[in-house]
Amino acid sequence: MPRKVIFDTDPGIDDALALLLLAVSPEIELLGITVTHGNTSQEKCLRNALSLVELAGISHIEVARGAEEPLVKELSVAEETHGDGGLGYASLPPSNKAISKVAAHDFIIEQVEKYPGEVTILAVGPMTNVALALLKRPQLAQKIDSIISMGGAIHYPGNATPQAEYNVFCDPEAFDIVLRSGIDFTLVPLDVTYKCIFTKEHLNRIDRARRDIKEFITESTRFYMEFHVKHQSIEGCAINDPLAAALLLDPNLVKSEDYFVRVDLMAPTSKAKTIADYYGALKEPANAHVAMQVDVERFMDLFIERMNRFQ
Ligand code: RIB
Ligand code: CA
Repeated sequence: MPRKVIFDTDPGIDDALALLLLAVSPEIELLGITVTHGNTSQEKCLRNALSLVELAGISHIEVARGAEEPLVKELSVAEETHGDGGLGYASLPPSNKAISKVAAHDFIIEQVEKYPGEVTILAVGPMTNVALALLKRPQLAQKIDSIISMGGAIHYPGNATPQAEYNVFCDPEAFDIVLRSGIDFTLVPLDVTYKCIFTKEHLNRIDRARRDIKEFITESTRFYMEFHVKHQSIEGCAINDPLAAALLLDPNLVKSEDYFVRVDLMAPTSKAKTIADYYGALKEPANAHVAMQVDVERFMDLFIERMNRFQ
């Protein structure tokens, strides 16, 4: 039975690759895509999501407009990382697909109440939409099956500040609300995603995909790779979001530890840091399965094999 998934995303180059992976994986029943601010503005992320579902051949999937801004802090965007359009050097034809009449957080509420206990939310951007759904309908937490979140950094340095990972940094209060919700929560932090460096050699192995798919992956990751080598001396690009998506297909790609994790909302220097209590010093029950090891080769093989399914 395919797994029911809501994809909450801020496309964004690696978000786009995760969306392609979901689109070509029969193990997933994609209930809808909810768009959040993050890598660029909500408007640009929404425009990208609408064009991406056309490219991926899933234009029947509902796409819902999400939060324009975080719950508390000012809006952040990462156009030096993803380009001012959000998809690097790739350009997709604009879509005339109708945007869902339902706002993202209401779409989440509707779908979870339609399928209580069955829906996984794959969240690969700031958590604003999910937090708004929980604030509006607190009892929703008991009806969401699980959340898989690309976010946080445990032993690894932050990529937004020295301490904070970008998705948490964009809306730390929202991430804190969702982490405290009691929902079965899997965290996929930079500790594992920065082991998954997509290189030109990996790109060359995507040699059977349809031309427009290959071109999109080439042009979007070309920008992303230029960012990584210039700012992080990495020859390639960290495909963070596709790893989180891949756990829906094979959870054994990672080894996880159960920790009590909280978001630092106080200290200015460590604001938005995800703090895992790995020695149990706080005597708090674990609230997250934190992916700490990854089988990189098996993940890359899976990703490449799935991209080559686009004919
Ligand atoms: O820190 C990496 C995360 O921030 C990824 O989800 C990327 O798309 C950006 O949203
Ligand atoms: Ca993202």
